[in-house]
Amino acid sequence: MLFEPISFTLKDGRQCILRPASENDAEEMLAFRNKSIAETDFLLQYPEEMADYTIEKQLNFISRMINSENDILYIAVVDGKIAGTGQITFNSRIKLKHRASIGIALMKEYWGLGIGSGIFREIIKSAENRGGVTQLELEVIEGNHRAIRLYEKFGFETVAFRPDAIRLKDGTMLKEFIMVKKL
Ligand SMILES: CC(C)(COP(=O)(O)OP(=O)(O)OC[C@H]1O[C@@H](n2cnc3c(N)ncnc32)[C@H](O)[C@@H]1OP(=O)(O)O)[C@@H](O)C(=O)NCCC(=O)NCCS
Repeated sequence: MLFEPISFTLKDGRQCILRPASENDAEEMLAFRNKSIAETDFLLQYPEEMADYTIEKQLNFISRMINSENDILYIAVVDGKIAGTGQITFNSRIKLKHRASIGIALMKEYWGLGIGSGIFREIIKSAENRGGVTQLELEVIEGNHRAIRLYEKFGFETVAFRPDAIRLKDGTMLKEFIMVKKL
């Protein structure tokens, strides 16, 4: 879904623009995706699992996001570079349409500057404006304190966890918490 870009000031004084993706972003978004998953264990893929994620797939994803009635993809841009993305996906089925799910990822050099908070402010506004959405949901891996702090700041509460949801290459098992915010 398309939306009007907005901008806000980061903790270091720079401006961050939140705008929809365009096909021109495909190459940079692919590089962003590869880099961001290599920088943390708190996203769901390992870099080698992205090997078959081609520029065509990235273009298809962007085009789907632009044309979708049920997804909003926010691209966070700082100094002309993609710093992160946030996505809200609304359900279209009658029994599920009061629920929406959220995902977010930033490159490490942009953590802690307030971009996550800026994206969440907009995502929550978009859900409130949609009408009929009463529950926002997300999942977060055990130990991701920065993410959990962000979500709690915006009113999300942990309602359940999946034991042993994530198995890292070294065998470490981690829980996945399910967090919910009522609108
Ligand atoms: C999680 C993530 C989206 C947070 O975004 P961010 O822009 O870094 O978050 P913000 O700067 O808006 O900070 C959010 C809160 O976290 C808190 N915080 C900052 N550093 C922290 C730390 N090391 N530990 C705990 N909380 C921390 C801040 O206090 C801030 O709250 P405040 O504004 O009231 O001070 C981002 O760090 C990220 O992309 N991480 C890697 C990918 C990831 O984990 N995605 C989420 C998967 S569920």
